[in-house]
Amino acid sequence: MRQLKGKRALITGAASGIGRAAALLFAHEGASIVSADIDAERGNEIVNEIERLDGKARFVKCDVTRADDCHNAVEQTVQAFGGLDILFNNAGIIVRQSVVELDETDWDRVMDVNVKSIFLMSKFAIPVMCSEGGGVIINTSSGWGVVGGPQAAAYCASKGAVVLLTRSMAIDFGPDGIRVNCICPGDTDTSMLRDEARQMRLQENEFMADAAIRPLGRIGTTEEIAQAALFLASEQSSFVTGTSLIVDGGGLA
Ligand code: NAI
Repeated sequence: MRQLKGKRALITGAASGIGRAAALLFAHEGASIVSADIDAERGNEIVNEIERLDGKARFVKCDVTRADDCHNAVEQTVQAFGGLDILFNNAGIIVRQSVVELDETDWDRVMDVNVKSIFLMSKFAIPVMCSEGGGVIINTSSGWGVVGGPQAAAYCASKGAVVLLTRSMAIDFGPDGIRVNCICPGDTDTSMLRDEARQMRLQENEFMADAAIRPLGRIGTTEEIAQAALFLASEQSSFVTGTSLIVDGGGLA
């Protein structure tokens, strides 16, 4: 039995990494997918891949920091598939700098992509979900939404905000049948992680080896994070809301 049969899912940041893996997995489990991203080329690639596997998918070009783009993404989902059941607010960026090094533009950019986007997408998605009797929202936070990390001031602030925004939305919309949870991944093999090595001026293999120092002795795969998102998206987690699911190979243990 496919776990998301007949569901309609809107995934931000679906062109790459964790969002891409979630789009493939959710489609495999029977959901129709809207891939929303600023990267049209790779965002369309994932749509083609899902269609080749006989799934249903659409790409919507969307800068998640812009209210009109977020509104359009929700509208396009409803138009394409007749409703919206699952919103996966996953798009994110990192800037590896302390508060002294960071300039104001980068602070605003990180907060806008990582937090404001969740406010905007949810603002437009929740009324649709309410009119359909409920839905599921999953937000991507980070291990650094729970504990701090070096030279990542705006990122940690943004991901900590995601944890409490998640709880606040879970309280407000639980009575409407909407469950809201977040995932806190540990280091996962994506382009973002490799970009961090560049930002920290470290050799990629050295940076990745350091990231693997955790009880399970390795970094995560995008598929492993997508499986956690699937759990939160599916009926398997029907009594779970307002929580943060840490998926990090024991890194925070
Ligand atoms: P990634 O760089 O592979 O994918 C991020 C996606 O977000 C890209 O497709 C990018 O085009 C899109 N994006 C960026 N800015 C956007 C905007 N303004 N509007 C629309 N789309 C935009 O990164 P990854 O690693 O898959 O990251 C996904 C989420 O996971 C992020 O929220 C990140 O903070 C979080 N995360 C990642 C970890 C890791 O080790 N890779 C660890 C903890 C959290």
